[in-house]
Amino acid sequence: MDPSQIIEKLNDLIQLDHDAVGAYQAAIDRIDVESIRARLGEFQNDHRRHIVDLSEQVRRLGGTPKERPDAKGFVLKGFTAVTSMMGNEAALRAMQGNEKLTNSSYGNALRENWPEPIRNLLERNFRDEQRHLAWIEDALRNRIWEQTGAHV
Ligand SMILES: [Fe+2]
Ligand SMILES: [Fe+2]
Repeated sequence: MDPSQIIEKLNDLIQLDHDAVGAYQAAIDRIDVESIRARLGEFQNDHRRHIVDLSEQVRRLGGTPKERPDAKGFVLKGFTAVTSMMGNEAALRAMQGNEKLTNSSYGNALRENWPEPIRNLLERNFRDEQRHLAWIEDALRNRIWEQTGAHV
């Protein structure tokens, strides 16, 4: 890939991470179990770190990193909005869908021929995404919001 292609593909991932940060915020606002909110807040921070690290690579290549998503909301097709109608389970299900999207997007991106330092970064981010999805799927399987105290 030439630098302009690399910049474009990194910006796609930055956009995805911006959307993930927004979706996590909506989910955190809906969920009423403190321990789940705390965990989702950690995942949200992972996505913020992805944005910072990917943006640094874009600047290094002379590009301009994508900024916050515009007011229209999710730019990337496939993200599920977490709405005020949702309770704990529906919000977690929406985030499961969103993390499936982040996982498939990072998985697809890794098929490209990246310079080594960028590949290492993308693999690190992908491992975060896999961890996020696995946790959410466990949480849904075990219906952790129903557990008394919900220590998760
Ligand atoms: Fe991410
Ligand atoms: Fe994630």
